[in-house]
Amino acid sequence: MITEISHTRVLRSILITGASGGIGMALAAYYATPGCTLILWGRNPERLAEIATRCRACGAHVVTRELDLQNGQEALAAYADDDKAYTPDTVILGAGIADIQGTENLTEDPHKVFQLALVNYATPISLATAAAQAMVNRKGGRIALIGSVAGFYELPFAASYSSSKAGLAFFAKAARLAWQRYGVSVTLIAPGFVDTAMSQRLECPRPFLLSPRYAAKVIARAIAQRQAECVFPWPFKVLNVLVCLLPKAVREYILLHLAVGQKEWKNEPHKEQDKSL
Ligand SMILES: NC(=O)c1ccc[n+]([C@@H]2O[C@H](COP(=O)([O-])OP(=O)(O)OC[C@H]3O[C@@H](n4cnc5c(N)ncnc54)[C@H](OP(=O)(O)O)[C@@H]3O)[C@@H](O)[C@H]2O)c1
Repeated sequence: MITEISHTRVLRSILITGASGGIGMALAAYYATPGCTLILWGRNPERLAEIATRCRACGAHVVTRELDLQNGQEALAAYADDDKAYTPDTVILGAGIADIQGTENLTEDPHKVFQLALVNYATPISLATAAAQAMVNRKGGRIALIGSVAGFYELPFAASYSSSKAGLAFFAKAARLAWQRYGVSVTLIAPGFVDTAMSQRLECPRPFLLSPRYAAKVIARAIAQRQAECVFPWPFKVLNVLVCLLPKAVREYILLHLAVGQKEWKNEPHKEQDKSL
């Protein structure tokens, strides 16, 4: 069990991308306290309005922004506006999409791969850099990038997703080294399975499944403690070590024989509400 840590709740101004998604909504709800400003980015207006109402009811000052992160230039301009207006001390880059290559296809769809590369990698690392630029001048801040344990494996059925998360992980490591001397921390969040629309689409077992609310607590604690990397739940840390010990041929055999499918891929993943927030 994760216990509440008081210092996770003293943050004053927090920008969250993917705030209309399962993990993002849970994070917003977690941070929503009187005196706190929440800048919530997403695409789905109904879900953004819903989470904004909930957070305001907890006393937070909330602003929302509908934005498609495929447009990185627009995202950077929006960040500049929000930074000027609300000076976020914490930026959580959580928006993401996943795609699994269907068994009926020989490759992923190149258009989805491009979209995924923008949303999961190109725009988040650009926004992280924009946030760092501002935070370095203010001599402090926290940036979190939501990767995935998938980023630790070369998944043949999800080459674009796993590589986008691997790229984020590498960026987080390098950026942390670059910016820590200026008081800006970078935390890589690498969750296993969290019960959101994204994982609900998977057609495979979801071992050690966590609720978004629990995931939010773990993530908030890692950010508050300025951890470099937060891999959870813990069995995935153990798995990492074990997989590293395997001979390459065995590792590749296992990866090639994992049976993972997904329900229909949609541009807008949130037709169903997460009940577990
Ligand atoms: N759930 C898991 O098991 C799991 C495991 C490991 C890592 N993760 C990572 O955790 C993060 C959050 O995922 P989640 O589980 O909360 O998934 P989710 O419920 O599907 O939420 C995804 C969020 O990303 C936003 N998004 C997607 N495409 C976007 C775009 N083009 N422009 C702007 N926003 C966009 C969505 O906005 P709209 O809904 O408004 O379109 C939504 O807010 C992702 O980065 C994911 O890769 C999730």
